[in-house]
Amino acid sequence: MSRVVVLTGATSGIGRAAAREFAGRGDRLILAARSPATLADVRDECVAAGVEALAVPTDVTDDGALDALAAAALDRFGHIDVWVHSAATMAYGRFTDLPPRVFDQVVRTDLLGAANSARVALRHFARHGGGTLILIGSVLGHVTAPYMSAYVASKWGLRGLVRALQQEARDTPGVRVSLVTPGSVDTPVYQQAANYLGRLGRPPLPIATPQRVARAVVACADRPRREVSVGRINLLMRAGFTALPTVYDLLVGPLMRWGGLTGQAVEPHDGTVFTPNPTGEAVRGGWLPRLPRLPGASRLPWGDGG
Ligand SMILES: NC(=O)c1ccc[n+]([C@@H]2O[C@H](COP(=O)([O-])OP(=O)(O)OC[C@H]3O[C@@H](n4cnc5c(N)ncnc54)[C@H](OP(=O)(O)O)[C@@H]3O)[C@@H](O)[C@H]2O)c1
Repeated sequence: MSRVVVLTGATSGIGRAAAREFAGRGDRLILAARSPATLADVRDECVAAGVEALAVPTDVTDDGALDALAAAALDRFGHIDVWVHSAATMAYGRFTDLPPRVFDQVVRTDLLGAANSARVALRHFARHGGGTLILIGSVLGHVTAPYMSAYVASKWGLRGLVRALQQEARDTPGVRVSLVTPGSVDTPVYQQAANYLGRLGRPPLPIATPQRVARAVVACADRPRREVSVGRINLLMRAGFTALPTVYDLLVGPLMRWGGLTGQAVEPHDGTVFTPNPTGEAVRGGWLPRLPRLPGASRLPWGDGG
C-alpha cells in the first residue's frame, strides 16, 4: 500500500536517492530541504515517476519550520506513515581552526536539526497510532576521525539520542525508530562541506552508492530495525576502534590524510553550512566511476544516474 513519507535532505545525495526509491515504490512524498529550486526539481522527478509529491522548503534548524512541514503533510495527505531525516552538513578543519560559528551550526543542523525532526515526527506518531522514524547517522557516530570534530560530535550525539528514543518508543505501540549508519558514500557532501583545512575532502575507500543506502532506508521503512549499517568495512572499523584504540589512533591520522583528503587546495569557506548551494546538489558526488546503464533503468525518469 502507498505510504506517506516525509523526507528531509531530499535535494541531494542519500536523501534524493531515497526520494527516487520511495517514488519507485509508489509512496507519496513530502520533500524538505532549504533550496526551493532543487526541491521543485526533485518533486517534478517524483511526479514524473507517477506518485504524488509535495515540496516544502524547510530549514531543519528552525523547529517551527518542521511543525509547518508536518502541517503541510497532514493538510495534503491526512497522515504520515514514515519520517526520514537525512539533512546534514559537514565541516573540515582542526577543531581550533574551525570558527566557533561553523562548529555550532554543524551541530545545530546535524544533531539539533535531527532532534527537531524526531520531536515533530514522534509527537505525530504518538497521537495517530504509530509510524516509523528513520534517522541517517554515520559510522562516524561509532568511531572518530580527525579534522571533522563538529560532524563526529553530532553523529555520536545522534546515536545516543536514537537509543534513548528507541527505549522511550517501547511505551508507544506502533512507533518504531531506526538508525541507518553509512560508511563512505558517493554524494556531493564532501564538495559542499565547509573547509578550514586547506585541502578538499573526499570519501575514503570503499565507497558505497547513495542508491544502496537509499535501498537500505526503504527496507527499514518496510521492516524497521534498530540499526542498519551500510558499508563494507564499518564493522571492522568499529572493532578496531573499540578493541585496539592505540593502534586505531596511530593509523587514523595518516589514513585520513591519505584516503580522506584530496590534493586539491581550497581557500577557507563555509560551504553549505549556513546557505544552500543548489548548483552543487545531485544524487552522486562523482567519486565513483559510472557503470553502463542497466537494462530497464530508463523506465524511470532518472534512469540509473543522478
Ligand atoms: N556521503 C557520505 O559519505 C555519508 C556517510 C555517512 C553518513 N552520511 C549521512 O547521510 C546523510 C545525507 O548526506 P549526503 O551525503 O546525502 O549529503 P548531501 O548530498 O550534501 O545532502 C545533504 C542534504 O541536506 C540538506 N540540508 C543541509 N542543511 C540543511 C538544513 N539546515 N535544513 C534542511 N536541509 C538541509 C541539503 O539541502 P539544502 O542544502 O538545499 O538544504 C541536502 O538535501 C547525512 O545525515 C550524512 O551525515 C553521509
